[in-house]
Amino acid sequence: MSDLTEELDSRIKETSTSKVVNEKFSVNVTMSKLKRNTHILSKNYDVKKYLDSTKFTFAPEIAELVPKDTPAYLDNGERYVERIARSLAFFKQCALIGPSGTGKTHIVYLVAELAGLPLWEINCGLQTSVFDLFGRYVGLGKENWIDGLITSWCRHGGILYLDEANMMKQDIATRLNPILDQRGHLVLTEKDNEIIQRHKDAFLIISMNPVSSEFAGTKPINAAMR
Ligand SMILES: Nc1ncnc2c1ncn2[C@@H]1O[C@H](COP(=O)(O)OP(=O)(O)OP(=O)(O)O)[C@@H](O)[C@H]1O
Ligand SMILES: [Mg+2]
Repeated sequence: MSDLTEELDSRIKETSTSKVVNEKFSVNVTMSKLKRNTHILSKNYDVKKYLDSTKFTFAPEIAELVPKDTPAYLDNGERYVERIARSLAFFKQCALIGPSGTGKTHIVYLVAELAGLPLWEINCGLQTSVFDLFGRYVGLGKENWIDGLITSWCRHGGILYLDEANMMKQDIATRLNPILDQRGHLVLTEKDNEIIQRHKDAFLIISMNPVSSEFAGTKPINAAMR
């Protein structure tokens, strides 16, 4: 842009010094700021009504966690994308329950992309330890602390997506409770009880398969969590 304006400036000077009076120039320059929320699908889903990406502020280094190029999510008029956005806007959290392959993971990516929210994804079915999720000291002594995924989400905001939430180990679920209720903070017992306040734009989505014998290892989620 600045190249263009410089060029225009020099041309304007040129014309005024060369005294071309009988020729008229009309130059129209339109400049627009690069807008967020210009995703090609944003016109198909009315997400902006609930989650306005221009109101969110995130550290630049986590901006790359916003998903890109998610394909459209198709439904028969149920408007699931908007319903998830609405639930996040009012309750800051949302649970998706459905059998395998019904597009739970897909729709979370789409909502994150349309709302411009960084996505932190954890599959609870995997053997992820408390240290991976909350953080740990590395190396010698107590100098180099590394935040785990959940800690980073709590600090920086975005959507925390807990896939297969009913396979979550109980120690992790219990530690999540204070973040999810009105206290809204995380206590890092490993790190001299540091208290991390939940970021103002920190949302949670959990997804799970319905509890049945077909999906081995699933169990009803703990009442406190629910
Ligand atoms: N309504 C839909 N519109 C477009 N694509 C869909 C839809 N539902 C499912 N898909 C596609 O089906 C595939 C499976 O979806 P996805 O992985 O999101 O399912 P899931 O519910 O997360 O399954 P699981 O419980 O196994 O994790 C993806 O490629 C997704 O794009
Ligand atoms: Mg999935």
